[in-house]
This record gives sequence, C-alpha cells and structure tokens, in this order.
Amino acid sequence: MNDTELLKIEDLQTSFQTKRGVVRAVDGVSFSIAPGETLGIVGESGCGKSMTALSVMGLLEKNGKVTRGSIVFDGQDLLALSSRQRRSMCGDKLSMIFQEPMTSLNPVQTVGHQVRETLMVHGQVKTRDDAKARIIDLFRQVGIPDPERRYNSYPHQLSGGLRQRVMIAMAMACEPKLLIADEPTTALDVTIEAQILHLMRKLSREHNTAVMMITHNLGVVAEICDRVCVMYAGKIVEQAEVHELFRNPIHPYTNGLLRSLPKMQSGQERLYNIRGMIPDLVNMPAGCRFAPRCDHACARCREDEPQLIDVGNNHLVRCFCRGEEDRHG
Ligand SMILES: Nc1ncnc2c1ncn2[C@@H]1O[C@H](COP(=O)(O)OP(=O)(O)OP(=O)(O)O)[C@@H](O)[C@H]1O
Ligand SMILES: [Mg+2]
Repeated sequence: MNDTELLKIEDLQTSFQTKRGVVRAVDGVSFSIAPGETLGIVGESGCGKSMTALSVMGLLEKNGKVTRGSIVFDGQDLLALSSRQRRSMCGDKLSMIFQEPMTSLNPVQTVGHQVRETLMVHGQVKTRDDAKARIIDLFRQVGIPDPERRYNSYPHQLSGGLRQRVMIAMAMACEPKLLIADEPTTALDVTIEAQILHLMRKLSREHNTAVMMITHNLGVVAEICDRVCVMYAGKIVEQAEVHELFRNPIHPYTNGLLRSLPKMQSGQERLYNIRGMIPDLVNMPAGCRFAPRCDHACARCREDEPQLIDVGNNHLVRCFCRGEEDRHG
C-alpha cells in the first residue's frame, strides 16, 4: 500500500437492474483518500454519492452490484473478501454514519446499550463495566452533556444533534481508519451542523481518521474538507484540493454549484439555480452528461465524452470547453 492511499478506488462502476433497464449509478469513478485526510464528495441529489459509499461498505441493495473496477482499503482488495470478512472490517477499521440517526438507532434500546453492543462485537472491551466507562468517555469526547445520564436515554429522548453525536461516538468507538459520513448534518439546523462538523474535524485530527464526507453542500466542503470530488450523473467532473477548487473552479457544473451557495455579504437577491435536471441514468445523453444544462456547451460536447484531464496543481477536470485551453487562453 502506498502511504498516501488508505482507500483507493479505481474505475468503479456500480449498476442496478431495474424494470426500465440498467442504472449505472456510479460509472467509472476513481479517487483515493490518504490516512487522516478528509475528502468531500459533492453533487446534486441522484448523482451517485451514496452508492459510491455503499459500494465501499458492501451495503448495496440486492439489485445492485459493483460491475467494474476495484476498491482497495488498507492494502486489501475489498471486492475479493467474503461478506463475512467484509462485515468484520466494517465497523472495525471502516465505519459509516448516515443522514438520519433516528433510522440507524434502535428505538427500543438505550443509546448506551447500543454503543456497548458495537464495542463488544468488535472485541474492544472485555466486560460490561469496562464498556460503560469507555462509552461515557466517548460521549464526553463527542460533547454529549451529562454523559452518565445520557447513557440510559432512549433515542427519542435525545435531540437530533445529540443523536448524531451518539452515532459519531458509535462510529468512532473502534477507532476506524476511515469514517464515511453520508450527509451527516443535512437533517440538523445550521448551528448544530457547525458544531457537528467542527467535532468531526477535531476527532479526525486527534485520531488521524480519514473521512469521506458526502454532501450536496459546498459550504460543508469549505468548512472541513482537504480535497473534493465533484460528481455529476455517476462521474467525477472535477477534483482538486479545496482551496484550489474554490479559487479556480473550472467545470461549469462546479461553477453552478458555487453560484447557488448563499453569500451573506453580496446582497444577492435570489439564489442561482442550475437550469434543468440531472439526466435519466437509464438513457444517458451522448457526449458530456452535463451538456444539456451547460451554457458553454458546443457541438463537440454533445458528441464526444470528455475525459478527466489533469490541468496542474492536482486539479482534474472533465470538460472540453473549460479545460486546458481556457485556463491558458
Ligand atoms: N436499489 C436501487 N435500484 C435502482 N436504482 C437505484 C437504487 N439505489 C439507487 N439507485 C439510483 O442510483 C442513483 C444514484 O443514487 P445515490 O443514492 O447514490 O444518489 P446521491 O448522490 O446519494 O443522492 P442524494 O443526494 O439524494 O442522497 C439514483 O439515480 C438512484 O435512483
Ligand atoms: Mg445520498
């Protein structure tokens, strides 16, 4: 394993069999995450962010399958593991948190009990008393006030923000090398969102945990990510370090996402909307998938598919019109 690559995804294609035909939810995605790095995956609803994550976790629904490519995590080819080996890795070296913690927590068990199960299953603690002490410490680390009392709370007795902190505690309990967070703050209000993002950043730094942060919000990316992949209709259209991307966004889709971010200072009256919708994944347009919505599209864009090109500074872009020439011309 290369020490800059804890997770290395190459040419990943994930397909679903549906009545209407094959849906290529993820179509030729490649990226890697270094130990301790936070990588953002950003894009509109339906562009394949969650399916990329679930492909890594081995949690695709029955009609879905990785149909091409490779996923190597911590030196191991995940696609070659049995589902049992895969499960033992997940939760141990690899954890995931989801958008709505209420649906991932069991409503009839106390949160302390649930975190304890996770710890015991993965052999992190020997006795129940050890477990309890460790969990109370974890709850304290994730900023749950009065952790001794919260240990015995049921999920519905906690606010959304506290439930998400419990999920983070559970995900961090086994000190994973990689944490995949799928829209972990979307269901929360903005103040709580900021606190949770700050907490994730802090934990990732303290434990050198790599994070794959899935979000539709570039504001979240700016807040905590080191690098970012912008996805559109199952493909990466732009990838760069966060500062580079914000300073020099090239793909028209990325520019559209940036223009749709609210800006406090500018006094802008209406938020920008990228016109149109993402294409039907069963009937993908020829050429560039973004062309039907793009203000810069030319004839070539509607015929040929652009490749992901390195324009320098580790900045990759999949666009004919705004790539190399535009940057230098
Ligand atoms: N079980 C399934 N069967 C068929 N299609 C599926 C299935 N699961 C997901 N898809 C399709 O895969 C595509 C990508 O979905 P995915 O959930 O990865 O999007 P996303 O980027 O996470 O969107 P969101 O921001 O809404 O969470 C969508 O078009 C979705 O309809
Ligand atoms: Mg999703």
